[in-house]
Amino acid sequence: MALNLNNVNLRISAGLPKQFPRDAVAQIAFSGRSNVGKSSLINSLLGRKSLARVSSAPGKTITINFYDVDKKLFLVDLPGYGFAKRAPADKAQWSALTDGYFTQNPNLDLLKLVIQLVDSRIGPTADDEMMLSFLRECQIPFVVVGTKADKLNATERKKTLEVLHSHPTIPTDTPILLYSALKGEGKTDLWKQITDHTGISL
Ligand code: GTP
Ligand code: MG
Repeated sequence: MALNLNNVNLRISAGLPKQFPRDAVAQIAFSGRSNVGKSSLINSLLGRKSLARVSSAPGKTITINFYDVDKKLFLVDLPGYGFAKRAPADKAQWSALTDGYFTQNPNLDLLKLVIQLVDSRIGPTADDEMMLSFLRECQIPFVVVGTKADKLNATERKKTLEVLHSHPTIPTDTPILLYSALKGEGKTDLWKQITDHTGISL
């Protein structure tokens, strides 16, 4: 079942759990802080420049964006967290929507993998640790991706991988990879994770 990456579109920008699509296709969700590079990574995976909006002002809209990939797969861009200046009402909206996705989602069994993004230069923040613990509690398979790898030199890359591999909230068997949306680094390995977890081939 090969994927046609030219047949991709934004299915819905959902602001409420009742808007989540009910299609019987696998979902892969992308989670991480505002500005960590979720939308850029989705664009890079799909070979598109600006399908997913890359924000200059982080954390502006709180929606879950479902990208329909050839009617066989949804790539799900979760709203970013950890945006310090966000108003309390916005934080509540984030929680309701994200919690809705993981706990009241009628298609939760179709969520095959969460790609948890962590900024390579910063490592896991307190918010990332909370998200990682939550994913473990929900027993949802996840991989950890260090973003913006192009900003690291060889020593920093090694250090980042060590930090992620030895991190207390990341189980030792968790796949960890570095990604650069700018250079396309990590793209083949991440697609391999997605195809392995969905049974869909590229
Ligand atoms: P929110 O939607 O606000 O949660 O942010 P996001 O996680 O979707 O991040 P986004 O993709 O919008 O990227 C945030 C900023 O980081 C933008 O200025 C991007 O150009 C930059 N960025 C993203 N990925 C990379 C990367 O691989 N390398 C470099 N150098 N910059 C990147
Ligand atoms: Mg985004």
